[in-house]
Order: sequence, then C-alpha cells, then structure tokens
Amino acid sequence: MNVTRATFDEVMVPNYNPAAMVPVRGEGSRVWDQNGVEYVDFAGGIAVNVLGHCHPELVKALNEQGSKLWHLSNVFTNEPALRLATKLTDATFADRVYFANSGAEANEAALKLARRWALDKFGEEKDQIIAFNKGFHGRTFFTVTVGGQAAYSDGFGPKPGAVEHCEYNNLEAFEKLISDKTCAVMMEPLQGEGGIISPDPEFVKGVRELCDKHNALLIFDEVQSGVGRTGHLYAYMGLGVTPDILTSAKSLGGGFPVGAMLTTTAIAEHLKPGTHGSTYGGNPLACAVAEKALDIVNTPEVLNGVEAKEALYRELLGKINDKYHVFEEIRGKGMLLGCALNKDYEGRARDFLVESANQHLMVLIAGANVVRFAPSLIIPEEDIREGLARFERAVAAVVEAK
Ligand SMILES: Cc1ncc(COP(=O)(O)O)c(C=O)c1O
Repeated sequence: MNVTRATFDEVMVPNYNPAAMVPVRGEGSRVWDQNGVEYVDFAGGIAVNVLGHCHPELVKALNEQGSKLWHLSNVFTNEPALRLATKLTDATFADRVYFANSGAEANEAALKLARRWALDKFGEEKDQIIAFNKGFHGRTFFTVTVGGQAAYSDGFGPKPGAVEHCEYNNLEAFEKLISDKTCAVMMEPLQGEGGIISPDPEFVKGVRELCDKHNALLIFDEVQSGVGRTGHLYAYMGLGVTPDILTSAKSLGGGFPVGAMLTTTAIAEHLKPGTHGSTYGGNPLACAVAEKALDIVNTPEVLNGVEAKEALYRELLGKINDKYHVFEEIRGKGMLLGCALNKDYEGRARDFLVESANQHLMVLIAGANVVRFAPSLIIPEEDIREGLARFERAVAAVVEAK
C-alpha cells in the first residue's frame, strides 16, 4: 500500500501537523525519508532516542525478547521488569518502581500516589499540589492541569482541583504559596518544553527544605532531563537535591515506549493492591530494551562523553552567533540545549525549524523563542559538525528572509 504525507490529512485526527517528508529508516543520528533523502537528527524523537536510531545492542535485546515473551499484563510479573527495576533502584535514591507506558502516565501515578499518601497520613485537608509556570508534565487531564501552560489545559471542561502554580526559580513566591495544606510539589529539575530553563541550585535546595518543613512530597519530573541527558544519570544527582518521587520516560526506553515512577518504600506502601495500575505497564519487550539502554547509558564512557559534546555544540553555536547575531543565549545542559532567540527574532523559533528541515536537519523548538536540540548522547562528532553546518545555512536563510 502506498502511503504519503497526504494520507495523514485523510486518515489521522488533526491534532498534529507533521513535517512534509515521511521518515522510513534511521541509523545512529541519521534518518532517511521515503525519497532516500538523508537528515541529521538533533531532535532524537523529542529527547527519546538516547542512543540514536536502531542501536545494535537495543535491536538485539528487542529481537531476543521478541522471540521469548511479549506480554503478560500485571497479573504476572516478568524477568525484564524485575531486572530493570533492580537496576533502577541500585542506581538511584529509590527502593521501589512502578512501570507505566509514557511520561504522562508515570506523572499521573506520582500525583495519585502523593494524594493518597497525604490522605492516609494527614487527612483530606492536605491536598494542595504546587507546580511551576511553564512546567510540562504530560497530556492526561491531571498532568496537563499540573503543567503550567494554560494553553494546553484550557478548553476541556472542569479541571482537577487544588492545583496551584508559581514562578520557577522564585523561592520567595514559592514560600508564600506552600503550607501544611501542600501534599506535593512537582517540578522539572530542568524545564524542557517551557524553554530549556535551568534551575537555580539554591532555589531547588530551598524548595526541598520547604517541602520538608511542611511535610510535602517533592516530585521531580525527569521525563525529559533523565537517563543521562544532563551528563548525570538523573539531573537531581548534579543538583545535590534528592526528591521523594522521580518520574522517568522518554530516554528510558531508547525509543521503545516505557515510563517509570521511582520512590521510597515508605511512600510506595500507600499504593496498595488495586489502587492503581496499567495493562501494559512493565511490558517485557519495553523493559528488556530499557534494561539494555540503562546498561549502556549508565557508564562513565557515555555519561562523561556528554560534557565534551555539549562543549562542541556551544563552541560551534557561538561561532554561528558571532556571524549572524540571532541568539540571546545558549542554555540547558548536556544533550538538552536551547538556542534562545534575541529580541530581533522573537517568536520565530518555528522559522528556524522549517529552514533546518529544508537543510535536511531535524531540530525541535521549546516555545516560540527557543530552538531545542535533544540528540543522541552518543552522536558522533562528525554528525554534530555536519548538523551544525546545515544549521548555519538554516540560520543564514532566516536572516536573509528578514
Ligand atoms: C518533563 C516532561 N514530563 C512529561 C512529559 C510527557 O511525556 P509523554 O509524552 O511520554 O506522556 C514530557 C513530554 O514532553 C516532558 O517533557
């Protein structure tokens, strides 16, 4: 059957507007479309393809598990899920893991757990959830309400209640909002969708202290920042602040859909049998691939390499900016970088994305003012140089058209 981009407009719900070409194959940080045109991939499936496309070890793990056992549901447990959970707890603060299929589902579980924990321990008055402006936590109705972007949560009827927002990196505002009524605080330890905004370490420490003071759980949403992206296995490890609950997805499966919520034994106890669940959570195929991805990412070789790659991006982007004067700053950490546009190009991130595609480069945006790169952690130097040469041509085209 012959399908093209036009088929999308005929048969798909129009909530997405994908690019004009249809990718058919990927290898490492290169992708080919239906016409055989080759692209450099700085988008990484939106911070997912942590080891690039079709990493041979991940393909092998998937094939091996694919000929053994595909699915059981949670009526039974399975070896890949148990191994992955053991490795995640060994590598982090957590003692317990709940598996989901996506970031939103991991966050939904975290929020429900926090509410149940507070209800069990303190009663129904303690229900407030605090989150941050420009935060992003997924598209289920609870997570989109906790996310700090009204554009995504408005227009769907009554929202879940007792959710309040505050400015990121503003400890004074946060201190005014938190109280003994607060059951949980959800934050990204590096805001992704909101524009690649790094946390002030003192702010994060202050949030932790105030959570402790008011008996509120601190939930770190590491769906985008986790699994090596910042050069640490999880971003909290670089901040020196430990959450009570952590959520992970995206890079966790290296491209296979999987999510996880990590927490301590004492908190986990409040999700008793039957209180929450998912048909596919902990699926053996997903967990087998994620186990292999974690084995590869959680090594000094990969994690230490991230810093050098970030330095190369920053150096070459700086040179582009010296020539074209389009960025106010390059921000973010590791392989989650944002080129924030200056006043002259305000609101035009999409133009840079479109011109990059014309130059056969895949990039992302994070809001209207930031061009975002979230490539593979093991992207070769050659691909960084080639991709940024294409990006320079895209920048030149935007500047020329101005
Ligand atoms: C920080 C963060 N949390 C949650 C999500 C939602 O993840 P998913 O799309 O897998 O539901 C995202 C997705 O962009 C994210 O960046």
